[in-house]
Amino acid sequence: MSEPLVLGIESSCDETSVGIVRGEHLLANEVASSVELHARFGGVVPEVASRAHLEAIGPTLRRAIETADIDLSELDAVSVTAGPGLMGSLVVGVAAAKALAACLNKPLYGLNHLVGHVAVDLLDHPDDEPARPIAKPCLALLVSGGHTQLLKVDDITGGITEVGTTIDDAAGEAYDKVARLLGLPYPGGPVIDRAAQQGDPKAIRFPRGLTAGHDMVKHRFDFSFSGLKTAVARWVETRRLSGDEVPLNDVAASFQEAVADVITAKAVAAAQFHGITHMIIGGGVAANSRLRGLLAARTASAGIELRRPRPALCTDNGAMIACLGAQVVKAGLAPSGLTIAANSGLP
Ligand code: KG4
Ligand code: ZN
Repeated sequence: MSEPLVLGIESSCDETSVGIVRGEHLLANEVASSVELHARFGGVVPEVASRAHLEAIGPTLRRAIETADIDLSELDAVSVTAGPGLMGSLVVGVAAAKALAACLNKPLYGLNHLVGHVAVDLLDHPDDEPARPIAKPCLALLVSGGHTQLLKVDDITGGITEVGTTIDDAAGEAYDKVARLLGLPYPGGPVIDRAAQQGDPKAIRFPRGLTAGHDMVKHRFDFSFSGLKTAVARWVETRRLSGDEVPLNDVAASFQEAVADVITAKAVAAAQFHGITHMIIGGGVAANSRLRGLLAARTASAGIELRRPRPALCTDNGAMIACLGAQVVKAGLAPSGLTIAANSGLP
């Protein structure tokens, strides 16, 4: 079989996106984000996201098909994020994918969003060069507004074990909450990242959650960010109560340092514990300058090869679901069929 032509739909959170790939080659990746609609609420409002998906899905599909310049009858499969994510958001993508697959009489695959973040690395190469295979095993570090996970990936078409997750807030959620308490706009990640570049990361020593022997005892590499968020809130409040100015840039830099320190230390420790020499990062927080820099340094000194897909492929997008779909088709897995349901809690 020639390289499979797959259209993938992603709608798990606040991005409506459609990607089209031929094997490991990216033909289109159209993204419509409702992030601005959520800004005044300081976080994603599920009902608002769901309505926005409904409005955006048709035009986004059309744009992707035009950009890829394909005839839909040539598609080998349609794939869609089945979960995890917000239920009201997922169902829009799943319904659209079912309609498309039914009309075109093509196989339909319901896929795991998190695995899509790993598969997308296959697309991160120049057009005239072949894709680099994903190492087996590799460690995936997924950090976004909805997830903070370390996954041991033996094979992206099956064989994935979670070796760490957050026990409270996701990393991006911590960024968004700290931005809010500093009076900065949503989404907080990029704003704090910029402010931090003007600040001193050593100005305030904020706590590093779950780092006191936790890993050694349980062989788990879990994260906790709610204590850090509370520590920042207390520090800022104390300053305000005593009438002192809050040094925004120093708070941003010190908070960012705590997040990057704990995430990179755990990711490297998990890779070493499991004897893994390749790591892939994904999710919106993977765009963070300090996280990328510190992870590059720490993986290099640990002899771990790091793959950092370009930021547009790190945030939620349809191309990652199309790419995973193509891998699943190549692996000969059975389609999910038209009866698949969205599953917000998909592991
Ligand atoms: O993957 P994503 O686009 O959507 C999901 O949450 O699934 O990630 C969005 C999250 C937000 O919490 C945002 O504040 C964070 O990623 N983010 C960043 C940066 N850019 C986006 N966090 C830290 N530094 C950044 N440069
Ligand atoms: Zn995601």
